[in-house]
Amino acid sequence: MNHHTALAQLIPSHYPLLQAPMAGAQGSALALAVCAAGGVGSLPAAMLSPDTLKAELQVLRDAATGPWNVNFFCHTPPEPDTVAETRWRAALRPFYDEAGIDPASVPAGAGRVPFSHAVADVVEPFAPPVVSFHFGLPAPDLLARVKSWGSRVLSSATTVEEALWLEAHGVDAVIAQGLEAGGHRGMFLTSELGTQLGTFALLPQVVKAIQVPVIATGSIADAAGVRAAMALGAAGVQVGTAYLCCPEASTSALHRAALMSEAAHHTELTTLFSGRPARGIVNRLMRELGSLNSAAPAFPLATAAVAPLRAHFEALGRTDCTPLWSGQNASGCQTLPAAEITAALARGFA
Ligand SMILES: Cc1cc2nc3c(=O)[nH]c(=O)nc-3n(C[C@H](O)[C@H](O)[C@H](O)COP(=O)(O)O)c2cc1C
Repeated sequence: MNHHTALAQLIPSHYPLLQAPMAGAQGSALALAVCAAGGVGSLPAAMLSPDTLKAELQVLRDAATGPWNVNFFCHTPPEPDTVAETRWRAALRPFYDEAGIDPASVPAGAGRVPFSHAVADVVEPFAPPVVSFHFGLPAPDLLARVKSWGSRVLSSATTVEEALWLEAHGVDAVIAQGLEAGGHRGMFLTSELGTQLGTFALLPQVVKAIQVPVIATGSIADAAGVRAAMALGAAGVQVGTAYLCCPEASTSALHRAALMSEAAHHTELTTLFSGRPARGIVNRLMRELGSLNSAAPAFPLATAAVAPLRAHFEALGRTDCTPLWSGQNASGCQTLPAAEITAALARGFA
């Protein structure tokens, strides 16, 4: 059986095309639109409260026309560290001063919660057709629980070693995430950025190393990109950035403007907005602090201290402190309904 057929048996969508889950930039509306167009829509759950997650799952269960995916982070939350937090606020001091914000008034905290049995209690009644994870997999008992509902399980690999680990721990398919990809690197066996491979270096090596189907992701933005990924052995593709300017996405106006501008030609990996490396369009905070400034505390604790700065500058119409997540290839971003973006990408399967 070829990989393409194997993926279709696992996830019987019209096209082997997943819309990438993009926390903070979309919800069920984009997922439903992609499902209706023959792809697999995704709901990113990392930043949703239990009540919102439940409401979004209800929408998808009631209205989705084909298989859909719900996505969770599965990092281990760090212990709060007051020394690291103080160092981080000191690094941000010039920005606080400019914004007239007292850093002592800014609450610390985690903006993203990992998958847990409590979250699984919310999800279980909906038995999503697909559940995808970022940053590895949940503990074996939790993973077994997800599988017991009949959900197909996916997770991102950024190296051949991670792909082998995911296969050995029971995923149904691996998402090979190239270095070009927008948003957070799914890396979980290493934090060494030198290990990270571009999509067309990673994909064929992962395809060769594992038996389960491989879904390619990272800067696939048009039918030619889809065709190229399939030629390199992908069983399907996952596309994120190209959907960010669709009317069904909740991407902010400032983020949309940046994606459609020349600024989108320059992205970098940065730890400044969460503590883990993620790819976004270079902005003032990244330029002035350095995108990988070591003062940023462990994921996801960096977010809280930046939040009021982001809000301050956004109120002025500026993106100085806004994470502008984007892959290296934003050329697929168009103000078009998700159905049209999906149809254009799907020509790559013909
Ligand atoms: C705005 C944005 C948010 C993202 N959020 C998530 C997320 O919540 N969960 C996840 O697994 N991946 C997330 N990603 C990464 C995507 O799953 C995928 O790896 C990436 O979009 C592929 O590269 P591309 O953006 O060039 O298509 C995000 C990407 C972007 C652009």
